[in-house]
Amino acid sequence: MAPQRAPDNAAFAPGKIILLGEHAVVFGHAALACPIERGVYAWAIPANRSQLVLPAGTTTSQRQLLQRAARRAFAVAGYPKLSVRIHWTVPVAMGLGSSAALSVAFVRAILGREGTPKAVERLALDMEREFHGTPSGVDSATSARAALLLFARGRARRVRVAAPLNFVVVLTGARAPTREVVAGLAERRRRIPAQSARFLREIGWLAREGAVAARGGNVRLLGELMNVNQGILNALGLSSVALESAAFRLRDAGALGAKLTGAGGSGGAAIGLFATRSQAVRAARMFGSSGFATQYTGAPARTRP
Ligand code: PMV
Repeated sequence: MAPQRAPDNAAFAPGKIILLGEHAVVFGHAALACPIERGVYAWAIPANRSQLVLPAGTTTSQRQLLQRAARRAFAVAGYPKLSVRIHWTVPVAMGLGSSAALSVAFVRAILGREGTPKAVERLALDMEREFHGTPSGVDSATSARAALLLFARGRARRVRVAAPLNFVVVLTGARAPTREVVAGLAERRRRIPAQSARFLREIGWLAREGAVAARGGNVRLLGELMNVNQGILNALGLSSVALESAAFRLRDAGALGAKLTGAGGSGGAAIGLFATRSQAVRAARMFGSSGFATQYTGAPARTRP
């Protein structure tokens, strides 16, 4: 059984939220993604074979997928005799980058001190392919670097923030796997190719403008751009009643901007950007156990004990 609290020797990798640019990033446009305070802990102890021990409550299909991804990484690392335990503090399968965080924490645990940042990111992305097929790489890059990133075509640039960013994350319920939502968008692109291409290009521009706003501390503009991005995602059929409702409730609670985050579709998470941490904490309470506040200050994250 995994402990309630991660042990002190655990490697940590954060989950993420996409502020601007999901889906467009799959087609080579830019996305702006931010790590969150919740993530995945992994710790390795000597054993007589390579083994991944999952927390109780992991479903059979999640278990199969995770074991397959772990086998892939164990093989690349030369089957180290380690038993790796996992502890999640980020909600799973909600668009919050839990699979990328698991991959990064797992790889850090098995590579130990030999895991250079580059090697960790490369192997974690390889594990991610087991979960998503053809991921853009934005999730694993954000988790591995634990920094606000402007990401396009496999390349990430760190965006330094002039002021902390305060968010509320709202969980709206189960959603289809990312690869199915991405396939749904592909179908729409076949039906209205020119319009879809225009929308996706516009989303990429919003992400680049959002990076400039974050760098300059213009949180109000960043929020406005998130609202515009949400409108386009809805136009592309990637939102739902629950996601729209969460976005409107977040704006009513004072969010400067609100939108879905991650693949979206039938459910998953919505985010709101707030001017201060106390406003975010107050707004999160309105959503009970389905909402939580998270802050990004830009300070380097501690990922190893
Ligand atoms: O798997 P999710 O929900 O975190 O979605 C990631 C964002 C997408 O742009 C939809 C997919 C990708 O690979 O970038």
